[in-house]
Amino acid sequence: MPVDDSNPDDGRGDQQSRATDGGSDEPDVIDERSDDEATNDEAEQREVADGGAADESRSDSESGRAGTSDAHEGETDENSKQEQLEEVRENAEGEQLTTDHGVKVSDTDNSLKASERGPTIMEDFHFREKMTQFDHESIPERVVHARGSGVHGYFQPYEDPDLGDEYDDLEELTKAKVLTDPDQKTPVFTRFSTVVGSRGSADTVRDVRGFATKFYTEEGNWDLVGNNIPVFFIQDAMEFPDLVHAIKPEPDDATPQASAAHDTFWDFASLKPEITHMIMWVLSGRALPRAYRMMQGFGVHTFRLVNEEGDAKFVKFHWTPKYDTSQLVWDETQKIAGKNPDFNRMDLYDVIEEGYEPEFELGVQIFDEDEAEEFDFDVLDPTKIVPESEVPVQPIGKMVLNETPDNFFAEVEQVAFHPGNVVPGIDFSNDPLLQGRLFSYQDTQLNRFGSANWDEIPINRPIAERHNNQRAGFMRQEINEGKASYKPNSIGDDQPEEAPEGEGGYEHYAEKISGEKIRNRSESFMEHFDQARLFWNSMTEPEKQNIVDAAHFELGKVDRMEIRERMVYDLFNNVDHEFAKRVAEGIGVEPPEEPGDQMPTHGREDSRLSIEQRRDADSIETRKIAVLVDDGYDSDHLETIRSTLQDEGARVKIVSKLLGDREAENGSTVEADKSHVTTESVLFDAVYVPGGEDSVDALLEQGEAKHFVAEMFKHKKPIAAAGKGTELLEAVELTGVDAASDREGVVSEQGVVMDPNGEDLESFAEEFVDAIAQHRHWEREPTEVAA
Ligand code: HEM
Repeated sequence: MPVDDSNPDDGRGDQQSRATDGGSDEPDVIDERSDDEATNDEAEQREVADGGAADESRSDSESGRAGTSDAHEGETDENSKQEQLEEVRENAEGEQLTTDHGVKVSDTDNSLKASERGPTIMEDFHFREKMTQFDHESIPERVVHARGSGVHGYFQPYEDPDLGDEYDDLEELTKAKVLTDPDQKTPVFTRFSTVVGSRGSADTVRDVRGFATKFYTEEGNWDLVGNNIPVFFIQDAMEFPDLVHAIKPEPDDATPQASAAHDTFWDFASLKPEITHMIMWVLSGRALPRAYRMMQGFGVHTFRLVNEEGDAKFVKFHWTPKYDTSQLVWDETQKIAGKNPDFNRMDLYDVIEEGYEPEFELGVQIFDEDEAEEFDFDVLDPTKIVPESEVPVQPIGKMVLNETPDNFFAEVEQVAFHPGNVVPGIDFSNDPLLQGRLFSYQDTQLNRFGSANWDEIPINRPIAERHNNQRAGFMRQEINEGKASYKPNSIGDDQPEEAPEGEGGYEHYAEKISGEKIRNRSESFMEHFDQARLFWNSMTEPEKQNIVDAAHFELGKVDRMEIRERMVYDLFNNVDHEFAKRVAEGIGVEPPEEPGDQMPTHGREDSRLSIEQRRDADSIETRKIAVLVDDGYDSDHLETIRSTLQDEGARVKIVSKLLGDREAENGSTVEADKSHVTTESVLFDAVYVPGGEDSVDALLEQGEAKHFVAEMFKHKKPIAAAGKGTELLEAVELTGVDAASDREGVVSEQGVVMDPNGEDLESFAEEFVDAIAQHRHWEREPTEVAA
């Protein structure tokens, strides 16, 4: 069902009130009031509109630290971050244009000149300011994960999480309130991203997706900076610059953009057996997510949870999407990259604006050091998962994403994550990749922001109180009072005081360390193929074929034969012999005759690693369905199916040759949402063709309509047709699906649902909903379809 947006405190009400705030009843004369007082007045006006939601921001200003929102302690809720951001939001509606310094501007189109046709004059402060702002309005893009999209929401722990037999409640494991207090809704900002491409690259490239969440907790910011794949390419942070140099566009011609399919990446990969497990995931559908809200997320590294007593357990973090994990297919992703390079960005924005609330469940795998010793891999090695068959994932809370940003630059571009941002109760492990990240992110922000004060930018600023002796640097915002900016001091009573652990001070877990200082890699990190084989074994046959096809594409783009050979012989043949042979056949490499000498022989599999096997397939909420019509459509066919799909939560769009109204056989009309010029099958999850003599005759003459259906079939997506609409399907020749004209009643096969007589629309609709819930129909073999 579409989520009704009646929730009064979901923040959307605030947005509406912001639109009205800047109305013409604002005083347009500047009086002697301080900014604080002005803020208070505005907050009061909002209070009327918001039913009191502005209370807290007013008290912040009164605390004498305007703009820092220090008064949130103890009263945080899911709106706290929005209230803090409200203090810096600006709305120009109904206002007059001014310079940056508040002087009203009378003309912003003509520069000041010495006579009408004369040169521009230096004195034109408005021109100089406008142009200087423009010249400086970009910042360096992120060195990796440059392309991304972010939204607001909240996280709430479950009331009574099931932690298995060993633990009764989470407080036994961690003192982090953000994870343990079910009454606490912590505001979050989540940014999803691709890794390799630059800021303007396409969303649907084959790549890992970043999944970074900033929790604005009462105890400070916690950043869970993860990916949608649970393992990583390399084991030690030292290798990261090499990995990124290899995968980024090649240094001489700066191509290809946002793609691993070139010599330098596969050269690097073929010489790094530790990469094998990650490569299997990257070649799979995991690297082609249907939507950011339809992918899993993983903290990747082993972290620690620490309780009040200082006892620690290892933990792996998992995000599981409410809307199921789903993938696109390769041909589709490449076409989308041209038709709508913002596909994932727009999807995330659109569903939230339409009132849906994407959700992710946070799960944990908990194990102690003794259990970790028993595993046949090292839990500090980020190229390994802890299989769910060994340690189950226990759901502990949910994240709801429900508010889009107001300004992409201020919020999404300027948000800065750092895995080192943790709160008491959450700690690190010695994973050497994680340890290196703890340095890199803080450092890289200096490049992006040019200042150590990036933490003062509103989107990065915690809602928890901040007091320390950092007071200077580029673009310092806070005005810190007092003479003493050092410790110890007597002039300022030695404040701010250090907080002992019992009062919330962060104490690092006191892990015992012994050994020699050494530049080396542990023997326990040296096995690279066992879990790559587990992944391969766990795939369905169509998923295996997708991996093989992906390898054909990626390695097919590699010019150097010796690189292709190393991938087949040194890596893939040590995962699975048949797999290596299937890859070899498509890339001109002599298939290996024997399995690689490191190939594990186990037949273990885990269905949870497979997108197809872990699917719940019981909801079509948020799926986007195209209805192809022209004048003369059967309105009963259209309206009955449209209302069923909408009741189930799907988003239905009318697609026609041209925009404007289409008229039904019975004289009613429907407005086309999209035309063949503005949309394509690849932007939808399913298609439906209603009957209607003239409508279908017109569609039969439209190559775009036939192509729409054929491409849907090729991409294994659900297709439905009622009455004469089935003729369009017949015209396209869907391989392996018998023509509807030879059949009776509702038929459904390979995700193609037909009701040739159009008489049993109810069961037809049910079958179509089932087919959509399946998402893809992998049993199809559309090799003959020309699309
Ligand atoms: C040693 C290995 C790694 C290094 C040195 C590294 C470094 C970086 C850097 C420099 C950025 C850009 C940050 C910015 O400018 O804001 C970044 C972004 C990111 N990294 Fe890593 N990374 C490493 C491994 C990983 C791993 C293993 C993961 C996943 C667990 C990951 C997830 C992310 C994400 C999600 C972002 C984007 C954050 C955002 O949305 O702004 N990285 N990384």
